[in-house]
Amino acid sequence: MFYTMTVTSVLSGLLLLLMLPVYGQLVGAKKLQEAEEQSSRLRGLWKLHVGASRLKGKGSSSSPVNEVAKQLLLYCRAGIGYHLQILPNGSVGGVHRPTPYCWLKMFAVRRGVVGIRGLKSGLYLCMSGQGLTYGEEQFSDNCLFKESVEENHYTTYSSLSHPGNYLAISHRGQLRRGSSVGPNQSCAHFLPRRI
Ligand SMILES: *[C@@H]1O[C@H](CO)[C@@H](O)[C@H](O)[C@H]1NC(C)=O
Ligand SMILES: *[C@@H]1O[C@H](CO)[C@@H](O)[C@H](O)[C@H]1NC(C)=O
Repeated sequence: MFYTMTVTSVLSGLLLLLMLPVYGQLVGAKKLQEAEEQSSRLRGLWKLHVGASRLKGKGSSSSPVNEVAKQLLLYCRAGIGYHLQILPNGSVGGVHRPTPYCWLKMFAVRRGVVGIRGLKSGLYLCMSGQGLTYGEEQFSDNCLFKESVEENHYTTYSSLSHPGNYLAISHRGQLRRGSSVGPNQSCAHFLPRRI
């Protein structure tokens, strides 16, 4: 009796050990699936938007494929000029010479409101309520930016959820706290560069 119980518990222990990596894979697959669901939801939103503007007779001349997500570099005119990059660990910074982490996809969620995603890192550009910029896997309200073209033809990006917080790169190439910057400052002036 004692013997069989020990064997059973050892066996179930072994079984559990064997199952653990499978469980890890399941969690990974679930994350991937969630990310895919997220991006298909965003594509859906975008298609709705394109459909609506088509009905109004706008946007029919350009291909929706180009509009779904534009691949670009975000150039900031501060200092010697920097390109925004989103690193895989969620750090966001500026580099003078573009790296593979500088390639971004920008998609309109609705008129004047965009989401920005790093192509290589796969992370969305987001801004916290404290004005800190970071990259995150999960798309949320923190990742919605209001895009405005200023009088000088530069573009500013401000947090939709936290108004008054601007995306900005310092003259040394570091991300500035969004709350410390105004739309008139060169550190908040970007040029979306499509190459
Ligand atoms: C992310 O990686 C960069 C470059 O490897 C590093 O400089 C930075 O400190 C890291 N940030 C965090 C939050 O770990
Ligand atoms: C920004 O510039 C505009 C136009 O030049 C000016 O009217 C406005 O007062 C400026 N705002 C700040 C905060 O400097």
